[in-house]
Amino acid sequence: MHRAWWKETVVYQVYWRSFYDTNADGYGDLNGIVEKLDYIQSLGATMIWVNPFYASPDKDNGYDISDYYAIMDKAGSMADFDRLLEEVQRRGMKLMMDVVLNHTSDAHPWFRESRSSRDNPKRDWYIWRDPVNGGPPTNWRSYFNPSAWQFDPQTGQYYLHSFAIEQPDLNWRNPEVRQELYRVLRFWLDKGIDGLRLDAIALLAKPDVFADVEQPEDIRYLTNHPGLHEYLQEMHREVFRHYDILTVGEAAFVTPQTGLLYVDERRRELNTLFHFEVLDEMPEWDLPRFKRIQRKWAEALKGRGTNSQFLNNHDHTRQVTRYGNDGAYRVQSAKLLALMLHTLPGIPYIYQGEEIGMTGVRYDSIAAYQDIAMRNKYAEEVGKGRDPNEVLRSLQPLSRDSSRSPMQWNAQEHAGFTTGDPWIRVNPNYREINVEAALRDEESVFAFYQALIRLRKQHPVMIYGDYTDISGDDQHVYVYTRELRDSESGEVRWLIALNHSEQQRDFALPDELLQAGMKLLLSNYTDTAQELPQHVQKLQLRPYEACLYVVEGRLRTQ
Ligand code: GLC
Ligand code: CA
Repeated sequence: MHRAWWKETVVYQVYWRSFYDTNADGYGDLNGIVEKLDYIQSLGATMIWVNPFYASPDKDNGYDISDYYAIMDKAGSMADFDRLLEEVQRRGMKLMMDVVLNHTSDAHPWFRESRSSRDNPKRDWYIWRDPVNGGPPTNWRSYFNPSAWQFDPQTGQYYLHSFAIEQPDLNWRNPEVRQELYRVLRFWLDKGIDGLRLDAIALLAKPDVFADVEQPEDIRYLTNHPGLHEYLQEMHREVFRHYDILTVGEAAFVTPQTGLLYVDERRRELNTLFHFEVLDEMPEWDLPRFKRIQRKWAEALKGRGTNSQFLNNHDHTRQVTRYGNDGAYRVQSAKLLALMLHTLPGIPYIYQGEEIGMTGVRYDSIAAYQDIAMRNKYAEEVGKGRDPNEVLRSLQPLSRDSSRSPMQWNAQEHAGFTTGDPWIRVNPNYREINVEAALRDEESVFAFYQALIRLRKQHPVMIYGDYTDISGDDQHVYVYTRELRDSESGEVRWLIALNHSEQQRDFALPDELLQAGMKLLLSNYTDTAQELPQHVQKLQLRPYEACLYVVEGRLRTQ
């Protein structure tokens, strides 16, 4: 596959409202990002993705936009944005914005017009349907509500909202809507931003005819309808191809086959995507399953498109809590997951705080939760007569707020995030887990991320190398190679060995590796042997041990 800067990038996700507050209103802000740019740069990340900060009533933390051309007061001003962009780029980093094209806020002037009368010129900008048998047009659920349809008494019709009631879906069939959104994209791209994260992109196209489904709980019917790829190709033609940018689509419910349609380089749609086969469908760590997912995607995309690697973000609880061990092995398992994500094929994304091993928070009362998805689900379940405490306990682990608690900068009040009242409670473990402590400690999770990113900048095998899993269905041990043959680096083979368990595990090396010596490049134990001599039969891995080796000797010819 041809090389490109965006394939080599390491993205750091800033959830700005929880990052750093500079004016004591309890919310992080754009100026707060600027103040911490040196920190992000010292980590080594080359691109920063910032969650939406457009003008918004903020019902869904900025994903309900009321003006695409203005900045939310909490975040700052347009001048602050311009300075942020300048300061990011002055440091040689790049800036990715998050755009929401599937829906707007119900406070957006477009929707206000659309709902005002059936013959308003913007009526068709959203998706309106007549009642069926006096009720909603279909039995569809939305992500956040029991129904995806909201009745609007003024005109006697329902509108579609795939997310909150305050987030009506736009009608992408209408060419005026598409042109208007392309204008939005050009506005920001012309300012010089370097990338776009496209929110909920699998939802843009809607079915020809809306019909009831048998299992409303399985909401994949909201996604991947015909017409979607024509829209993406048009967007590429009209917008993307005129800029040198990284585009990443948030693509719910895609498989390697349907995912390829988004990122196949010959199709000219998006550069890469987030698929959710892990985060949406693998509630707990399941190594055989994870391996199958990686294998399928690597095979499908090989030579054709680029994947992304991530195990948490602002919608999914923190990886060390969900997929590692945030107790006795917090540091080891955080490093193991990091080593894995940065050596699997695809662009690695680091969600703020991940680099210091922050853990998922659980609040002890529903009042402490801010997320609309969490609050709505709680109300729905309690409304069915379930015990409120039990509902709370069942929703805590995967609540979106569990990764949204403030960034832990130091051991001072509110973790150094704000001198005001934080909009959401800090995780009480900030006294031990914080940036200041991490920067003092040479063995910190942070230092490990730095080492990984440094390696990536030196070794193209980490980006372009072929991936082969050699550990079969082993439940606990994951061993794979990355191999690259090219004129620049000659023949390179890396071997990654991960023990995802609390016990020591052995792994028998395959024959063809017995002849090879191996040199350690990185490990999460300080005393891992620097070399594995030839003829060593097996690897012995301690709890959560994670090792990266260079395999010496010639590659087998395939
Ligand atoms: C995406 C965002 C999420 C938001 C939703 C609706 O999934 O990541 O935070 O609530 O889209 O825009
Ligand atoms: Ca602030």
